[in-house]
Amino acid sequence: MIYLDNGATSFPKPPEVARAMAGALNRCANPGRGGYPAAMEAARAVYRCRSLAGALFDCPPEAVVFTGSCTQGLNMAIRTLVRPGARVAVSGFEHNAVTRPLHALGAELVVAGRRLFDWEDTLTRFRDALRSGVDAAVFTHVSNVFGYILPVEEMADMCREWKVPFVVDAAQSAGTLPVRLGRWGADFIAMPGHKGLLGPQGTGLLLCGRLPEPLFQGGTGSESRRPDMPDFLPDRGEAGTLNVPGICGLAEGIRTVSRLGLDTIHRREAEQAALCAQGLEKLGLRPFFGPHQGGTVSFLPEGDCEAAAETLARHGIAVRAGLHCAPLAHESAGTLETGTVRVSFGYKAAPWQTQAMLQAAEALKGGNVNIL
Ligand code: ALA
Repeated sequence: MIYLDNGATSFPKPPEVARAMAGALNRCANPGRGGYPAAMEAARAVYRCRSLAGALFDCPPEAVVFTGSCTQGLNMAIRTLVRPGARVAVSGFEHNAVTRPLHALGAELVVAGRRLFDWEDTLTRFRDALRSGVDAAVFTHVSNVFGYILPVEEMADMCREWKVPFVVDAAQSAGTLPVRLGRWGADFIAMPGHKGLLGPQGTGLLLCGRLPEPLFQGGTGSESRRPDMPDFLPDRGEAGTLNVPGICGLAEGIRTVSRLGLDTIHRREAEQAALCAQGLEKLGLRPFFGPHQGGTVSFLPEGDCEAAAETLARHGIAVRAGLHCAPLAHESAGTLETGTVRVSFGYKAAPWQTQAMLQAAEALKGGNVNIL
């Protein structure tokens, strides 16, 4: 199988990830719950991962809260910043992990910037939204459907200028592009551990520029006499026993990313996405591509998207079809009725994968594409 569904999860993981997880199961007890060697080993392992993440994301280790997923981090961040019925600016490319928590709070969404790959449109509309008066902003760094890289640094600058608290969804950018809590001055940045960071599923990080309102209340191993959650980081956001094997695996994923370098990973992925888009275009399969695009490309085959993905799967190519849990992004691109087929490259992206994908795509439409 040629795996081109890294937008869903990176696969396969670097071998060090599984080794570290097995090691943790054998060596680690509960961190922060004892002074004996196995508990201390767990505490050190968790702190190592926090430090690695802090170094990569421009924040102190204590600002890194471990979550079970990016979705969990987004929920915590949104619950902290958004009061019921508030007005919230979002981009036109948000995932349900952003829009559903906002909907659950009865927030009024001000959708800013619907045009793909168009920074001028994104920034103009976003500025208009902030000017119109919003209580908070939540925006994705990279569209999970189209690979569009939004101008988040400029959007962050605008939020600070207008004194609007904001959350960045780094689900598709962490481990691929620079993500900087300090430089951006974000209130929160949420990310999964299992996508670009190459860790296992069931891990995530919430980078905190301020104290979060906990989603869960419970034991932290600290200030146990208090009836409420501690008022310091990271404990306030981490009720209950941490996923120590997952965190140890995640640490190895982050190490791999840091060793390879974000520039290398991004360049590899974006180059293959561009080649893939060119080939799909030649086949008449209507790819969405443009400037500011990462390692993901969506396209519109003639018939049903799910059927097209099944055909590709029969040819050994793993991609994701449908709405990708992001109906707002599809609405913006005009593909809400049809969905798209999404090809998303990973940290080992290489021309042979693209060539194989395009050869398989010939089965969707007669043609012959050679990109090499
Ligand atoms: N949000 C993930 C995706 O885009 C699961 O596929």
